[in-house]
Amino acid sequence: MTLRGKHIIVGVTGSIAAYKSALLVRELVKAGAEVRVIMTPSACEFITPLTLATLSQADVVLDMFPQDRAKGTWHIHLGMWADLMIVAPASANTIAKLAHGMADNALTSLALAVRCPLMVAPAMDTDMYVHVATQENIAILRRRGASIIEPESGELASGLVGPGRLPDMPVLMNAITTHFESRAGDLAGVPVLVTAGPTHEAIDPVRYIGNHSSGKMGFAIAEAAARRGAAVTLVSGPVALATPPGVDRIDVGSAEQMHAAVMQRFEEQRICVLSAAVADFAPARPSDQKIKKSEANTDGMRIDLRRTPDILRSLGERKGGMVLVGFALETENEHANAERKLREKNADMIVLNNPRVEGAAFGGDTNVATLIFADGRVEELPLMAKSALADIILDRALALRR
Ligand code: CTP
Repeated sequence: MTLRGKHIIVGVTGSIAAYKSALLVRELVKAGAEVRVIMTPSACEFITPLTLATLSQADVVLDMFPQDRAKGTWHIHLGMWADLMIVAPASANTIAKLAHGMADNALTSLALAVRCPLMVAPAMDTDMYVHVATQENIAILRRRGASIIEPESGELASGLVGPGRLPDMPVLMNAITTHFESRAGDLAGVPVLVTAGPTHEAIDPVRYIGNHSSGKMGFAIAEAAARRGAAVTLVSGPVALATPPGVDRIDVGSAEQMHAAVMQRFEEQRICVLSAAVADFAPARPSDQKIKKSEANTDGMRIDLRRTPDILRSLGERKGGMVLVGFALETENEHANAERKLREKNADMIVLNNPRVEGAAFGGDTNVATLIFADGRVEELPLMAKSALADIILDRALALRR
């Protein structure tokens, strides 16, 4: 039942194991999934598109530039359609291209356009598989949140023995069903509120005090929660990000506005994740007109600041049964500071980041976090994609709710 109606893209590359993709497509269709196959030019040397079109009951995508102009944005449409993209078998060449974001054929272009999770099942000769270049490329994909289905060891087409074999169908099918089983719908109907991005505090009509938050972490949490069935409200500061599917987004500018938007909606929430980098101070008297240089003294000017409302603290004071998750960005005495914030603001969990750790910088797609719980537990997490961290934060919040 797990795969019924699921939209799955099977990417096939030039590996001797390409023949097994026919079995995979057949199994997926039998399990009720809707399958679209996309092949690289080399894959067609190993298995015909006709075989895969017949088994998937759909046209196979081969061309970057289809003759039919109306289909020119096929990769965007297919990218939005899919619930999962699995590249099986994945050759060393395609893995390298995926790792480096190349888009030189239909498959690699689509891999950049999809919004869904990516699974990669490497299959190649042992020497190519264990080569440091391939291993580093696989590590890059893993860090970005792709799931890697490890190849099996055994006799390979070349006669060599070692790792590199595409696992058999039960292993591949198990990886795919587990992917959909875990977490699917586990937040169904749960109202979740997320704050994200920076706030902008006006100095005058054209200038503001802000910070470097990109909003990516909060948007990843909103996206993951919506995918898991939650009713998500995303209160976002000024960011350049698309609204994740199914998310109710409220755009705000200042800390004051974010506070008002959250307080208006907090009562119906069950989980609140406050990932916004809210400005702690705002200009006390923003000017109605653009401030002119001539208004300053020759040695400079002063802007008086006032405190902004602390949203996390406000929620902590009134939280009732809701699970309240805060973030802490610390560059020194990280644990002690995060624990103090947790206690003072009455949160249930704090996600602690240090932007100076490699992989945790502002604006990136990865993060390194430590979770600190009100009951004293501490969970150190490795470097991972923000999308993967988003799911873990929601897992823990859900466990606290229970
Ligand atoms: N936060 C908030 N409203 C504010 C400031 C912070 O809701 N006005 C939330 C953030 O979204 C985050 C947590 O509080 O979840 C921690 O924010 P941070 O700025 O790191 O902590 P501060 O309390 O401002 O402490 P400090 O300035 O000492 O770092």
